[in-house]
Amino acid sequence: MQIATSEQWNNHTAITEFILLGFGEDHEFQIVLFLLFAVIYILTLTANILIVILVVSDQHLHTPMYYFLGNLSFLEVCNSSTILPKMLARFLTGDNSISVWGCFTQLFCFGCLAGIECYLLSLMSFDRYVAICKPLHYATIMNGRIILYLLVGSWLCSASILILTISMISQLSFCGPNEIDHFFCDFSPLLQLSCGDISHIKLLPFIFGPIDILPPFILTITSYVCIITAILRISSATGRQKAFATCSSHLIVVTIFYGTLMIVYILPNTSTLRALKKVFSIPYTVLTPMVNPLIYSLRNKEVKESFKRTVHRFICFNEIKKF
Ligand SMILES: *[C@@H]1O[C@H](CO)[C@@H](O)[C@H](O)[C@H]1NC(C)=O
Repeated sequence: MQIATSEQWNNHTAITEFILLGFGEDHEFQIVLFLLFAVIYILTLTANILIVILVVSDQHLHTPMYYFLGNLSFLEVCNSSTILPKMLARFLTGDNSISVWGCFTQLFCFGCLAGIECYLLSLMSFDRYVAICKPLHYATIMNGRIILYLLVGSWLCSASILILTISMISQLSFCGPNEIDHFFCDFSPLLQLSCGDISHIKLLPFIFGPIDILPPFILTITSYVCIITAILRISSATGRQKAFATCSSHLIVVTIFYGTLMIVYILPNTSTLRALKKVFSIPYTVLTPMVNPLIYSLRNKEVKESFKRTVHRFICFNEIKKF
């Protein structure tokens, strides 16, 4: 027994890096993917950073809803930056290796941010629910201090789950092969490479997945159902249509985000589902960070006006500087 463990430990130290297989070997395809994901990354950064700047700098946007949007955009910048830069570098250089601790770090950051995003999206839908269905109580329910507690709470909750997960995974021994069949270091593809007894760790997604994903999902869906019921009671047809268009676009994005997350983390890890899971990881890792600011903020009238004001201020400022 003693010998077996020391042997395992030796094997563990033997693996110092993993290889991320990504999307295959074909060179031209890698170039196409590089261009595609580079455009996505640039759009994501530009749109989200713009929103953070607007929310922080414009007094008109200092309300709970825009604080949430600003925080979401900040989160999306971090979120896409944990995966995309490394992925773009791999497409370009063809070097698919990642150090073991680099891999754990990526898993930690990604998991933590995804958890926070689940909570944040549900808080945002709850915020809209209170604004639309309980307008008289809005100021008491959504005051600055409560929002801060909720935001800090979701960071702490998500981070502690991930610290526990990473500390368990870092105890594992990896004996090779060291090839991860995915485009980033995710939980189950990583587990497949470990040797020894992992039955207790395999249970983690079934415990934490539901804590991280299901309650926010249920809160979100309930809020939107209440909102839609309220909208259906609006008497003017155009008003109803407008409100419905906004809500349905939120609902679609949120459903795609949670739906793909659930497919990847809650469904069992069979070999047929594995290839599917790689594809279903793209929406919530790469697409939602780009689409969220467009859906939630840039279509919003107040954000558009704030943008115009800011551009105007900037131009005036430059005019003054010239003289
Ligand atoms: C995030 O929310 C906090 C608390 O409500 C707020 O003070 C802060 O400005 C927000 N951050 C951004 C980037 O909008």
